[in-house]
Amino acid sequence: MSVPPPIIAPSILAADFSRLAEEARAVEGAADWLHVDVMDNHFVPNLTIGLPVVQSLIKTTTLPFDVHLMIEAPERWSIGYAEAGAYNVTFHVEATDDPVALAKSLRAAGSRAGLAIDRGTPVEPYLELLPHFDTLLIMTIKAGFGGQAFLPEMLDKVRTARRHASSGHLELRVEVDGGIAADTIEAAADAGADAFVAGTAVYGAADPAAAIRALRQAVSR
Ligand code: DX5
Ligand code: ZN
Repeated sequence: MSVPPPIIAPSILAADFSRLAEEARAVEGAADWLHVDVMDNHFVPNLTIGLPVVQSLIKTTTLPFDVHLMIEAPERWSIGYAEAGAYNVTFHVEATDDPVALAKSLRAAGSRAGLAIDRGTPVEPYLELLPHFDTLLIMTIKAGFGGQAFLPEMLDKVRTARRHASSGHLELRVEVDGGIAADTIEAAADAGADAFVAGTAVYGAADPAAAIRALRQAVSR
């Protein structure tokens, strides 16, 4: 099976929220996706942005939006992001009783469907659901805040998921999120991840586009 080129997805959680459109444009041409963290102060303690901001921001950039919903009741809110034009909409398995139904609705609404697995959640019970998904987001931190240290023990889940996807010939992006930087991205890639979210490592850098190029270089080593 041919290996698709890696995806680098800078997270605007680490960007300047007063200049989101500029911050998005700063990574055009360097990033593959723009990772947008939606937090509701219920599923996670933090609060970020919601649908109105995404609807406005998506018009300002050519980058495909990778929306990461850290919210309760994703069945109520997810479709709006797909309808707004998001390329991929990921919700947390811990937040819903019927992930497959929601994945089907997202695909019907025109986006890719993503399933996110938080730090304390095992991946094995959900392997059978993966044919319904385009991306599997494995948190390499506890969801909720940027700037946390990468947890290498989460890579066992990445290995398990990648093995399962390969043996089942699934077209699945295995995405890692949390603490991804030049010194951790290689380990994640070796474990089988092929999409990499990076907040601090990109927007904390003086030149975000150069930081993305450095990550890409590290991953293709
Ligand atoms: C946190 C978010 C991440 C966050 C990662 O829950 O899902 O996308 O932006 O930030 P860094 O790359 O700084 O760990
Ligand atoms: Zn995220």
